[in-house]
Amino acid sequence: MSRILTGIQSTGTPHLGNILGAIIPAIKMANDSENESYLFIADMHSVTQIKKSKELKFNTYSTAACWLAFGLDISKTVFYRQSDVPQVTELAWYLNCYFPYQRLTLAHSFKDKSNSLEDVNAGLFTYPMLMAADILLYDADIVPVGKDQLQHIEITRNVASRFNNHNGDTFVVPESKISKENMLVIGTDGNKMSKSKNNIINIFLDEKALKKQISNIKTDSLPLEAPKDWSNCNLYNIYKLLADKSQSEIMKNNYEQGGYGYGHAKDDLLNLILDKYKIERENYNYYITNLEKIDEILKEGSKQASKTADSVLNRVRLKVGFN
Ligand code: TRP
Repeated sequence: MSRILTGIQSTGTPHLGNILGAIIPAIKMANDSENESYLFIADMHSVTQIKKSKELKFNTYSTAACWLAFGLDISKTVFYRQSDVPQVTELAWYLNCYFPYQRLTLAHSFKDKSNSLEDVNAGLFTYPMLMAADILLYDADIVPVGKDQLQHIEITRNVASRFNNHNGDTFVVPESKISKENMLVIGTDGNKMSKSKNNIINIFLDEKALKKQISNIKTDSLPLEAPKDWSNCNLYNIYKLLADKSQSEIMKNNYEQGGYGYGHAKDDLLNLILDKYKIERENYNYYITNLEKIDEILKEGSKQASKTADSVLNRVRLKVGFN
């Protein structure tokens, strides 16, 4: 049996793009897996970016609520908050001492920002060491990640091997597993949906706020009566990702026939989201208004995670020269 582990960034409430592209497939994989699965919210990594404590805390809750709402089975996955197992920072320190400064300067997470060095905090610089610690602390065999994280996994393998070479076998050297090319979800402005572009759809909003977000979807300005081109329309494209075949056929026909305005199409999209995600929206609301329930779940996960962490860390301490 292999141990599969991955971390979730928690920079805001997951949006439709995150949900369709990453969360639903990851939950399916975790729930179906015969393997042991560890999943955590990387809130310590978020401190490199987010300095507002309330925001940091809320992001963890809304991320956890979303994963739970979409059916993550916590009897099959150890689900925890990174900061609830602070042993990871001790391990990150040892790893820092085994990895060359020069190589860290090549990490994308740092390099991409290095034209404005005054904006780079030391945490961002050593981000890959904390990430390596996340993985090595749990003897993970397989780490599913997006392509953008591949370099971090290579760094993890590298620092694990350096340590092993020095001290004898200590760490499991993990393999990465590239998550399939993510489904491309278009945002309200026609570009890839992303929080930083301010073009997201948050399916957990109340009906009024969701309607407002949907009303922002850019379309051309053909009048209601005119036949419309669905093949070039964001609104139709978003609808199609969520709709079943017959529903998208109906919208397609409406577009082609005319007498169907973008306002109608937006109403249809709103109703589709409300209907399709009715249960998930209810679940999310339950958790986000019962934060103590989320705390309870994550604490339970961190208890299990801590056990593994302690045993690995003891092994490492002995090798380093501590008791
Ligand atoms: N850096 C990852 C991301 O941005 C999140 C992450 C943190 C992670 N620690 C991890 C992923 C450990 C896999 C394993 O998506």
